[in-house]
Amino acid sequence: MTENKHTTHDAADDIRNADIKIYVNGDILHRDDAKVSVYDSGFMLGDGMWEGMRLYHGKWAFFDEHMDRFFSSCKAISLEVGMNRAGILDALSKTADANDMHHDVHCRLMLTRGTKVKPFQHPSLSQSGPTLVIIMEHSKPVESLLSQGIRLATVPQVRGLPMAQDAKYNSHSKLNCVIASLQADQAGADEALMLDPHGFVNTTNACNFFIVRKGEVWTSTGDYCMNGVTRQKVIDLCRSNGIPVFEKNFSLYEAYGADEAFLTGTFGAQTPVGEIDGKRIGTGSHEMTMRIRALYKDLVAENTASV
Ligand SMILES: Cc1ncc(COP(=O)(O)O)c(C=O)c1O
Repeated sequence: MTENKHTTHDAADDIRNADIKIYVNGDILHRDDAKVSVYDSGFMLGDGMWEGMRLYHGKWAFFDEHMDRFFSSCKAISLEVGMNRAGILDALSKTADANDMHHDVHCRLMLTRGTKVKPFQHPSLSQSGPTLVIIMEHSKPVESLLSQGIRLATVPQVRGLPMAQDAKYNSHSKLNCVIASLQADQAGADEALMLDPHGFVNTTNACNFFIVRKGEVWTSTGDYCMNGVTRQKVIDLCRSNGIPVFEKNFSLYEAYGADEAFLTGTFGAQTPVGEIDGKRIGTGSHEMTMRIRALYKDLVAENTASV
């Protein structure tokens, strides 16, 4: 690993996370005791879906949007969730209560096709119902990312066509992204900037990617990247606040020459990009990024306010 290495998921250390309790199929267990079978489809094949969500003031931000994506993804791979949205919310609440967690909490909700009767691929071998695991941690993104910005490297690993493995699946198998991340690391960068199959700039291995040029906000068409909840919120916020926003193809030429660039994701909200392939982006002012960040912060506060 490179010195001064960051990731977009750097959180302040929190001693309380050493003793968190984890939801495993209805049981709430200390993290040391929370286990799934080695025959689990998620472990064997990456056959499962997950969501990353954040809890503020006791409320899950953009819960409906996360559930829309989660249930659509599960339906698309014929993975029976085994409960409705209210059931998921109940499981989340039980886990939060068991941990006495209310604010600045990050959750990874994971559902796999469950335990297999034999160590082979066919989905019919998963016969005991799905495995639902909920990990929640006290989590506050580190502030240094805002001033320093993330360093990106363009990597050989690209986003694939939807008929291979649609990038919209938030699947347990993230090998495409993990390979990209390793390549970025080897290039001495924090995170990977990934191109689409035509060579246009698409996304990073863990976040959606935006640039700012002459007061306009650009992001990829959305064809080869995760349909990020935060990405959509940023587009909607730009539209409702008179900021010109475009979902379009653009190349590295336009990314290198951008005034600003930033990443979006549930964890870090909007994270400024400092450099791409060793080239500094803009003057380092991050003015538009910070404006959008403030708008997004207000939106989260509105969404998680108690009624
Ligand atoms: C590859 C990738 N891109 C982008 C995102 C950001 O999505 P969201 O804004 O819904 O957190 C994620 C989050 O899971 C992701 O895995």
